[in-house]
Amino acid sequence: MEKIMTYPVVIVFTPFAIIMTVGFIVCAALLGAWARSVTVSRPPLLVSNPQRVGKLPVMGYNTWNAYYCNINETVVLETAQNMKALGLLDVGYNYVNIDDCYSEKNRSSSGDIVANKVTFPSGMKALTDKIHALEFKAGIYSDSGWFTCQLYPGSYLNEDRDIKLFQDWGFDLLKYDNCAVPFDEIIKEGMVGKFTRMANAIKKLSEESGKPPLVFSLCQWGRNEPWNWARTLGQSWRTTNDTYPEWSAITSILNQNSFYSWASDFYGHNDLDMLEVGNGNITFDEAKSHFTAWALMKSPLLIGTHLSSITQDTLTVLKNTEIIAINQDPVYGTSISPFRWGINPDWTYNATHPAQYWSGQSENGTVFMLLNTLDEPADMFFRLVESPWTRAGRQYSVRDLWTHTENGTAVRNFTAKSVPAHGVVALLLKDAGDEPAGTLPPCSTLEWCMGEDGTLINP
Ligand code: GAL
Repeated sequence: MEKIMTYPVVIVFTPFAIIMTVGFIVCAALLGAWARSVTVSRPPLLVSNPQRVGKLPVMGYNTWNAYYCNINETVVLETAQNMKALGLLDVGYNYVNIDDCYSEKNRSSSGDIVANKVTFPSGMKALTDKIHALEFKAGIYSDSGWFTCQLYPGSYLNEDRDIKLFQDWGFDLLKYDNCAVPFDEIIKEGMVGKFTRMANAIKKLSEESGKPPLVFSLCQWGRNEPWNWARTLGQSWRTTNDTYPEWSAITSILNQNSFYSWASDFYGHNDLDMLEVGNGNITFDEAKSHFTAWALMKSPLLIGTHLSSITQDTLTVLKNTEIIAINQDPVYGTSISPFRWGINPDWTYNATHPAQYWSGQSENGTVFMLLNTLDEPADMFFRLVESPWTRAGRQYSVRDLWTHTENGTAVRNFTAKSVPAHGVVALLLKDAGDEPAGTLPPCSTLEWCMGEDGTLINP
């Protein structure tokens, strides 16, 4: 057997060895510090909204769709005054929000955003004081990148400073956009991290100041599926590109949102973009459809039309309190969802003919939305039990949320006659007791319908 020799290891502390060892430790430490400096750790995602702001979709006014960059303090104040005079505050529109283009192009020497000296000469605090005195809340806008979409200062790397300024200016809500994205090698973050920076700044400010957090309205046009993550950061998230005042935009946005309507609930809402009611060539019927869909899908409802020249038709749409009641339901926070697509097979993605038959829960019954996407009038028929929220064997009273009338009792099914082109029918069905005895067939859904003796009714 071979003998294993062992040798003692002798470490000799020569001056050379000591210098080499110390040199190695210093190099390792420097390398570690450098590695840490280039690896920016992602801020943790917020887990909830501890202050419980933004339970219901925000209702109010936003300057963008009507004024774009042509805003000033007079426009904003007169808008607030008109909102009140027209009774819009009374029916729930209680925010007045300033969008892009309110600031100077450059920050102050101390680094703050500065209100535009020509268009907002009295300063933002004076303006929000007046907005609050009219009993509204006030919203402001910024961007998660270097600049806003109109190239005014964005809040990247200034999140804490800017949110403090917005709070000091008296704002209650922040809409936060997605333009002028910093290079990867600088931000070392994707979409979620970019918006987490401001969400964390809002949270921190609220904790430090003891004031409720500003409502956080993410506006990144549905990139990276915000319906899957934005609820942990804010109270609403845009789901699509910008809207425009045409029927095709309404159906396109509706089509996209039909696939993630499940994501809206209390404290977190799909934002279908600001209302175009009153704008462009949208007809009265189209405006009713647009408003019904946005409201029943629990989107924020932000008016964006010139109030000084608003028509009675536009006001009729915006002030439908029966539709607003569904949007602001304190008991059910979820959106309506399609139970049948209609013209197209279920689950078809079609920007012109989105899902037509929708239902959802509400405090006062099951709400139905029937949308005629055709260019001519159509009858629209559905069976009650197509909706998951109705019960077999019961009958339902039918309330029409646009004509504001009771339309009899539905047994088994309902037909809306001659729904206008691009028009809508919104119904509230309330349980009205057992359906008449002997109503046939014995099961309203015949699949596997069976007698107690094992007889299959529809073999
Ligand atoms: C867009 C945003 C619009 C409006 C605009 C302002 O990105 O979607 O709603 O805020 O920027 O420049």
